[in-house]
Amino acid sequence: MLSDTMQQALNQQINEEFCSAFIYLGMSAEADRIGLPGFSNWFKMQYQEELGHAERFFNYILERNGSVDLLPIGKPELTEETPLSLFEKSLKHERHITVCVSRLKDLARGESDHATDVFLEWFVREQVEEESNAQNVIDQLRLVGDNANGLFLIDRELATRTATPAE
Ligand SMILES: [Fe+2]
Ligand SMILES: [Fe+2]
Repeated sequence: MLSDTMQQALNQQINEEFCSAFIYLGMSAEADRIGLPGFSNWFKMQYQEELGHAERFFNYILERNGSVDLLPIGKPELTEETPLSLFEKSLKHERHITVCVSRLKDLARGESDHATDVFLEWFVREQVEEESNAQNVIDQLRLVGDNANGLFLIDRELATRTATPAE
């Protein structure tokens, strides 16, 4: 059985993942506004991935016979973004999520809740990927600077991202 503290923390994480989804959906709109359909696609795929993350926590709470509590989702703060600022925000956000996952893991370990500890392993690995994905695009954007051809090529590459099927 989940402790009250653990249940509350996992519900908080459902909210974090939905907030992530909302941020990426907003970023998809921003990228489209800038005229970068490939970036827009990449953020849309990330939005879908975040919905999957929220669902993993949702399913896990129910599996442990806990109660799900869906909390309000705030408005994403996005104004006058550039391709670089969007990915810098992504990286900053993913670092925040990594901290959230680490805190959850500390909590699970502190309570000797081995089931939750093991469940969170997937997210620990996923966060390594999330930070690295954002960092890779930032590196490419810094490399091309204001070169429009370079930006066009990155956009073409980001256009190829498809939804990752749930494992
Ligand atoms: Fe996530
Ligand atoms: Fe991912």
